[in-house]
Amino acid sequence: MNTNLNDKSDEFLMEPDRQLHFINTCKQLIFDKKAGLGRNLTYCVVTFGCQMNSHDSEKLKGILDEIGYEETENEDADLIIYNTCTIRENANLKLYGHLGHLKNLKQKNPEMIVCLCGCMMQEPHVIETIKSKYRFVDIVFGTHNLYKFAELVYTFLSTGKPVIEILEKNDLIVEALPKKRKYSFKSGINIMFGCNNFCTYCIVPYVRGREKSRKPEEIIAEAEALARVGVKEIMLLGQNVNSYDGGISFPELLRRVCKVDGIKRIRFMTSHPKDLSDELIEVMASEAKVCKHLHLPVQSGSTEILTKMNRRYTKESYLELVDKIKKAMPDISLTTDIIVGFPGETEKDFEDTLDIVKKVGYDQAYTFIYSKRTGTPAAAMDNQVPDEVIKERFPRLLKAVNENNHIDRYKGQVKEVLVEEINVQDNSLMTGRTEESLTVHFKGDADLIGQFVNVRLDECKGFYFMGTRI
Ligand code: 5AD
Ligand code: SF4
Repeated sequence: MNTNLNDKSDEFLMEPDRQLHFINTCKQLIFDKKAGLGRNLTYCVVTFGCQMNSHDSEKLKGILDEIGYEETENEDADLIIYNTCTIRENANLKLYGHLGHLKNLKQKNPEMIVCLCGCMMQEPHVIETIKSKYRFVDIVFGTHNLYKFAELVYTFLSTGKPVIEILEKNDLIVEALPKKRKYSFKSGINIMFGCNNFCTYCIVPYVRGREKSRKPEEIIAEAEALARVGVKEIMLLGQNVNSYDGGISFPELLRRVCKVDGIKRIRFMTSHPKDLSDELIEVMASEAKVCKHLHLPVQSGSTEILTKMNRRYTKESYLELVDKIKKAMPDISLTTDIIVGFPGETEKDFEDTLDIVKKVGYDQAYTFIYSKRTGTPAAAMDNQVPDEVIKERFPRLLKAVNENNHIDRYKGQVKEVLVEEINVQDNSLMTGRTEESLTVHFKGDADLIGQFVNVRLDECKGFYFMGTRI
């Protein structure tokens, strides 16, 4: 096959055409490489962190499929990508652990291309560590230039030299590139990127940059295209969807997405309590397609700690908001994120957190031990809470979450369940989710995957249900 590595036509192309050009060029290079080796080439994408990262990984997989690699779950692949997270310290440590193991794999397979991307790569000290200690890494990129993956692969293949490209910011949004969705019937859609809130513990604003919103027309076009290929449930993704500003507000965007034929369920993630408007509550309550589930991170129940966290709401205003939401949607399922051990958290502050858990009755709470992130204001605060105190508080919080969830209120109800997969532990069971995002296992066949079925929730097992299809 004729591959012109000096092809300069890319210089004149705008995105996304430029990347489509590089995808085609890589396709030819990979075709030749496979012919030379007399075998297929495989890739493995390992994803850490949140739904934004999972969605980004679908983009990377889409590009790799297109250029001729085959996916494998095995880390012993010809191309491996670690899509990293840096929200807590242990996420960073995990990556270094994996990299140690990879070095051996790469010695066995010299064709192996090792790529690192994601939030952790936006931290300069991480890049320095990779350059000095992990020299076998071939391609490194960050959160602002993920769409350039094909171009970076091309540069690596054509020069054989490591490629490290990290941008501090990028106003461009490039979305119309191939994607490989994990599920055929549900999908995420990015509506905005970055965060402007600067909660004092959080590294996200530093690694994902300032907020930028996609245009509503593009979001709607993506939802319509997904509906045409059979997607029934979509999740609108952003660090703080309530501050979406694409010329229209988030509630208005939701209204428009509801009009897309074929889309039956709409979810969104994440909502900052300080920006949750009455209009959003009204749209959620009145639009049947919007799932009655709200993830509303509280982080702490103490007004003093919330102030130090720069959350810009108080215990009382959060509880008022919850009341308003429950009044408008009595069946709503609320979930949350909570941090234990933020600097200066006293026993009294922690009791306020237990109290808010009791008053709200979350169906699920994701609980985190505070992790000091270098460069954030909280890392420099006095009164870091000792480990022994955190160890004593954490199980008390878990107990409060378990004792105060009202998930068994759904027992006996018949719910519409979108069937997602065969149960991993028991093949005779199918696993799906209700609109509240409750997990339900019930007897059924694999041909139900991707369909809505009615299931009676018979037995509550903590955070999931066993049910019967009716
Ligand atoms: N330490 C512990 N948890 C954190 N989170 C964000 N930053 C930190 C940190 N430094 C949690 C918050 C956020 C969730 C995604 O991660 O609860 O809502
Ligand atoms: Fe981090 Fe706060 Fe932004 Fe969420 S809203 S990403 S917790 S800074």
